[in-house]
Amino acid sequence: MSGQPEIIQGIIYQGVDEFQDHLVRELDQYEYLGGPLYFAEGPLRQAFWTENIWLNPIKITFESISEAANALRGIQRNWAPVLFTQYRRGMLIQEKLPPINQKPRPFPWVLPDSPIGSWTLLDSHTMIASPACTSPFPGGKFEFIENKIDPPSRAYLKLQEALVRARRWPQAGERCLDAGACPGGWTWVLTQLGAQVTAIDRSPLDERLMQNPLVTFIKHDAFTLKPEEIGPVDWLFSDVICYPPRLYEWIEKWLASGLAKNYICTIKMQGEGDFETPKAFAAIPGSQVVHLHYNKHELTWIKVSE
Ligand SMILES: C[S@@+](CC[C@H](N)C(=O)[O-])C[C@H]1O[C@@H](n2cnc3c(N)ncnc32)[C@H](O)[C@@H]1O
Repeated sequence: MSGQPEIIQGIIYQGVDEFQDHLVRELDQYEYLGGPLYFAEGPLRQAFWTENIWLNPIKITFESISEAANALRGIQRNWAPVLFTQYRRGMLIQEKLPPINQKPRPFPWVLPDSPIGSWTLLDSHTMIASPACTSPFPGGKFEFIENKIDPPSRAYLKLQEALVRARRWPQAGERCLDAGACPGGWTWVLTQLGAQVTAIDRSPLDERLMQNPLVTFIKHDAFTLKPEEIGPVDWLFSDVICYPPRLYEWIEKWLASGLAKNYICTIKMQGEGDFETPKAFAAIPGSQVVHLHYNKHELTWIKVSE
């Protein structure tokens, strides 16, 4: 019946534009819907190369734009469109929904708790919508207000995004280890929060950070320093360029030592990519692996304590 939602038995995976081939490899069997959207039957599959995952999709057939908007409004307040066809009709539907804020955000920014659903049009009278999605951002998209002057690299944006997603960030005086810190984008974020940073790299950081009393620089291979040589840290960060198994081996040592409370690490891909090590990271209790908006050919492992 028109306007009545029909439950779809499966999940929709929204790929990352440049890495849709990675999602296809993760899903193996799927039905391509269009744009970045892939449907796969059955329960949730492990898929890291996603911008968003639509957890409880429903199909709505409708006659008019008002009918489509009313069907969505009847479910919840917040909806973001992810359109790959019928753009004009889609925008007319979205205009009839309560506004959502997609402005660039400051850092730190506290994520709202209210759910944000995603919807798309398959044709002029068929909509697929999902009230629950994995990304806390509208349509899986998110941007910060950028600071083009102070941070020594743009890498600072991905750390800010990871901390916003973790809903926690270092407090003033907390001790942080930043491995692979040069030229210092991540260390800059941490000093802005008032944290104490031990920065390790083979090359020194930007001179302003080298002079910052909150920063202690160690010129070393991060992986040959044992956790006991560094001592307890509230946060362990790594943006080291290395093969993922090398990072995993090092993280295992830190986990075994019990000396770090929270972790955020970039898992950098080389060549074709590594599809196994991210699974090993994701299997570490209390952690998640995500592809951040500001990640390129890399994933981010996040483990924060309660
Ligand atoms: C992507 S850059 C880090 C960017 C940094 N997070 C920022 O915000 O500016 C990667 C860094 O890892 C460093 N690196 C590579 N292997 C390393 C190792 N074994 N130990 C320490 N640093 C390493 C490189 O020298 C390089 O500066």
